[in-house]
Amino acid sequence: MKTKKINVNKKYYSDLVNKLGYIIRKGGLVAFPTETVYGLGGNALSSKAAKKIYKAKGRPSDNPLIVHVADKSQVKNFVKNINDLEHKLMDLYWPGPLTIVFEKKDIIPYETSGGLDTVAIRCPDNNATRALIRAAKVPLAGPSANISTRPSPTYAKSVLNDLDGRINAVIDNGDSKIGLESTIVAVNEGKIIIYRPGAITQEMLSELAPTSLDTALKKSNEKPKAPGMKYRHYAPSAPLEIYVGNENKVEESILEVSNENDKIYGFFVSKETAEKLPKNSIVFCWGKRSDKKSMARNLFKGLLFFNSKKIDQIIGEGTDNKGIGMAIMNRLKKASGQHIVFVEK
Ligand code: TXA
Ligand code: MG
Repeated sequence: MKTKKINVNKKYYSDLVNKLGYIIRKGGLVAFPTETVYGLGGNALSSKAAKKIYKAKGRPSDNPLIVHVADKSQVKNFVKNINDLEHKLMDLYWPGPLTIVFEKKDIIPYETSGGLDTVAIRCPDNNATRALIRAAKVPLAGPSANISTRPSPTYAKSVLNDLDGRINAVIDNGDSKIGLESTIVAVNEGKIIIYRPGAITQEMLSELAPTSLDTALKKSNEKPKAPGMKYRHYAPSAPLEIYVGNENKVEESILEVSNENDKIYGFFVSKETAEKLPKNSIVFCWGKRSDKKSMARNLFKGLLFFNSKKIDQIIGEGTDNKGIGMAIMNRLKKASGQHIVFVEK
């Protein structure tokens, strides 16, 4: 199959969207842009399409797919009930990077929901993608558009590197604004449980209701509520080690590593640290140390950057757990296989 790359700014784009919507409705796969990461879209109401998605990604079929809707009004067609807090969350954060887990209606096949009685739904903040959903006249099942275990794609080229020839088309709308996958929550008895941290932070959600973290986010031996959280993820091709703790000490430790000659290192660091590294170092700078949004946006891009370099080891500078820091560190822990070095004061 030849995968078409379609630019959102193209003149005949709206005609194309109708064609792509038709392809989806007929069981094809189209990768779509969102504010978080690019998704691999298929008809969420079709078990055949869901199976195709798992196959294209090389993903285990017990790992459910997020269902993407064009607006809040579509949700009632797919879920058994919506409570007040869920309404509030959708009104406040949709379109946007928040996924809510509901009890599903039978119209959502078990292949889409990974065998669960629940369905995870979100409304992405991207006009082209919402137009695509409307044109398809069905909701879009959409996992991140990468091969399973690899970093999630935040630009169209990265989708093609993984899925060229396996999908009908990718819609190119430039870089994803956020760069990390959506926050996943469930509402239970007036409380919000966070299954996966993202750009809608625990601090933001706590303003609406009491929140807690799925215990698997705190203890690694617990079974996560979001099945996908148990799998190996985001792995770059070289081993990755992340330094966190006191900023100055972290910087010092990374600079010490840069003076060692035992291996070829790649550095995934802040601007402050990058400026002090030896001139010939292999560096991907994720932004100013205080700018966590820039770090989030560059996280997967940075990990993928090192795949094209001949290096033995990546050394990364992490951040604290506040705000979006929790989501960043969640992804970095997985990407590094828990190789986190705490540098004390
Ligand atoms: O930002 C995002 O959420 C992106 C874009 C494309 O929308 N999508 C995404 O999908 O990250 P994926 O498939 O890479 O991750 C979906 C996560 C998995 O960990 C999965 O287990 C969880 O959502 N999930 C899906 N349905 C669920 C359900 N019913 N209950 C609990 N977790 C669920
Ligand atoms: Mg994913």
